[in-house]
Amino acid sequence: MKRIAYIDKKIHKFNKKIYVPGDKSLSIRFILMASQAVGKSVAYNILKSEDVISALLTIKNLGINYKINKKYCEIYGMGLNGFKFKNNTIINAGNSGTLARLIFGLLIDARNSIILRGDKSLSKRDFYRVIEPMKMFGQIIESKNNYLPIKIKGTKYPRPINFFERKGSAQVKSCILLSAMKTPGITKIKCIPSRDHTERLFKYLKLPIKVKKKKNLEIITFNGKKNYKGFNYIIPGDISSSSFFIVLTLLSKNSKILIKNVNINKSRTGIIDILKKMKGKINLKNIKNNMGEKVADIVVQSTDNLKSINCPINMNSRSIDELLLIFLVAAQAKGISKFKKIEELRNKETDRLSFGNNLLNKIGIKTKMTQDSIKIYGNPDLKLKDTYEIRKFDKDHRACMVSFIAALTLGGKWKIHDIDSIKTSFPNFISLLKQIGAKIN
Ligand code: S3P
Repeated sequence: MKRIAYIDKKIHKFNKKIYVPGDKSLSIRFILMASQAVGKSVAYNILKSEDVISALLTIKNLGINYKINKKYCEIYGMGLNGFKFKNNTIINAGNSGTLARLIFGLLIDARNSIILRGDKSLSKRDFYRVIEPMKMFGQIIESKNNYLPIKIKGTKYPRPINFFERKGSAQVKSCILLSAMKTPGITKIKCIPSRDHTERLFKYLKLPIKVKKKKNLEIITFNGKKNYKGFNYIIPGDISSSSFFIVLTLLSKNSKILIKNVNINKSRTGIIDILKKMKGKINLKNIKNNMGEKVADIVVQSTDNLKSINCPINMNSRSIDELLLIFLVAAQAKGISKFKKIEELRNKETDRLSFGNNLLNKIGIKTKMTQDSIKIYGNPDLKLKDTYEIRKFDKDHRACMVSFIAALTLGGKWKIHDIDSIKTSFPNFISLLKQIGAKIN
């Protein structure tokens, strides 16, 4: 049954400490990397969401065992050639673009054919971005116009590649790196910077990866193929999940929140830099290193006089999953905010650029949208009284959650459909909102 949420009250002032669940990107990468290790790997604080469960079921279908309980997740890796499965085995990535793109890399040497499927939303997303490099490695791929379902078969003799990744996509970069890990010789990727969790995990495992940073480009080289042993990993809180609470607090009155132990990897903290430029009161405390990633506690206070932003394009990839939330802040900031070269937003679980534009227009905010940009005419006095219904967002978890934040900070009566979509990334989102005082029916 499709569940609906009703909200007709702004959140009352709060002063709370919360923990958000483990990082989704790191949880999926842990599972995929552990599946190729020799022996047992253990992760603590892994995210228990639908996308992560899809990753566990995927490796299980490929012959790798795991155990998951409240405290930890164990994966019993069988080494780089350890996948065992029958011809035409079906794997289902559900809603997860990250899982679906990264798994191609691990299937570079697959001896039997795999059929990769996904849910309705994932089946509308283009896979050419990974099909192109994977064919260069020698993978055999059959698809209808580069959409799921896709049939994948590996090669006995993968060839290392030189590839220019132009989209700033961490999924594409990581897919290539996972394939390079199983391919003898030197693979070289020239890329627009994007989240670098895979590179950091490789370094943590002492795999021979080299990263050279140039002005707006990076050159990554990897010399495969290299086995590694099972490993232990602690997954910090997810900055993308934290962002809903950062924005909720900024846009509420007289409130404060402390979000404990969050991953603050620089390739993910665009939202913090952008909101600080908009004069948002955000501070990081207790910064420390955790297995190659930085973590911190985030302190946020309500901010009255937010300013518009002309968002630098090098922030786009660093805030790609948070742009909808930033649009909501821009809607209530003084002045006109501008975001350029953000076409990638149209290729997410739903077309997030159109969704954001429609949401802002619905609440009375003037915008100008093109194929790859948006201008937002902020209104710091925005107050809502009408009824707003949010539906038809392809069950995009982030589109759904941003609607909750709009409802709880702006007033009016809201009816939000398909709230089960939230389970893909943040299953306890609503219970955490209630814990800090939100009234949701
Ligand atoms: C992700 C990369 C991003 C992001 C997605 C997770 C990852 O996608 O939007 O939610 O874990 O690598 P792109 O790399 O395609 O931009």
